[in-house]
Amino acid sequence: MATIINGKDVAASVIAQIKSATADLQAASAVQPGLAVILVGADPASQAYVGSKSKMAKECGFKSVQHSLPEDTRQDDLMALVAELNADPTIHGILVQLPLPKHLDSEKVIQSILPEKDVDGLHVVNAGKLATGDSATGLISCTPAGALILVRQIRGDDLSGLNAVVIGRSNLFGKPMGQLLLSKNATVTMAHSRSRDLPGICATADILVAAVGRPEMVKADWVKPGATVIDVGINRVPAPEKGEGKSKLVGDCDYASCEPVAGAITPVPGGVGPMTIAMLMANTVIAAYRKAGKRAPNF
Ligand code: GUN
Repeated sequence: MATIINGKDVAASVIAQIKSATADLQAASAVQPGLAVILVGADPASQAYVGSKSKMAKECGFKSVQHSLPEDTRQDDLMALVAELNADPTIHGILVQLPLPKHLDSEKVIQSILPEKDVDGLHVVNAGKLATGDSATGLISCTPAGALILVRQIRGDDLSGLNAVVIGRSNLFGKPMGQLLLSKNATVTMAHSRSRDLPGICATADILVAAVGRPEMVKADWVKPGATVIDVGINRVPAPEKGEGKSKLVGDCDYASCEPVAGAITPVPGGVGPMTIAMLMANTVIAAYRKAGKRAPNF
């Protein structure tokens, strides 16, 4: 029986710290953290994510601004909005919800955000600071930052001697996750769809992090007994057992078979998911502290 890592509880404790850090900053410097979220188009999943980000920002005591732009927004107009938010002293964090409609160049938009306001941690300056170990001035991508907190709950702050395998090599998750695990002294293997013998590589992992976007791909025999399994996948699949036309969310790990083998495992939903939004709030409060010339809290 594995320990079930409850991301909702961990996220709630991070949010409680953020609320108190926000109140402290306001009392000491009269600065209210400000988060601007930009959504282009009407994708229902993106609308739901953006809505919960804006709502949580308000709950934390932030100034929360949401810009919803039409699907046919022009690149220049989107870039102009980012430039306006870059120049706005009441905004400390800017998030452009991805994916953007196909006619827009996401990379150009992301790289136009000021690095100190890039609360998604996607700017090359922030990716570079993570790679070189500059956590004092950089901002770290939210999902890997949240996943690392869950790993630390089980394995502590020093991962010396532990093998970590990350499946997936995206800029948004896999690459920063590998860097974070390395910064905590784990021996890190980056595996991906072109790796030979993925099951064999995964079976060496004391910490196995799956972020491939393939429903229930990781099976029990991929998991080393006692391993810490962090499932970053959120896949919607048909669930005829719940009724005709119904669906459910599953991770990249086959939870039912992996759970008895793992030492600890994150469920989907309720594992990594709630941490992403908490870390977005954490990055916003960190950015506001830095702008006010104050030492930012650690999470
Ligand atoms: N879409 C799905 N996940 C994310 C994320 O972490 N950041 C942004 N900006 N868009 C996303």
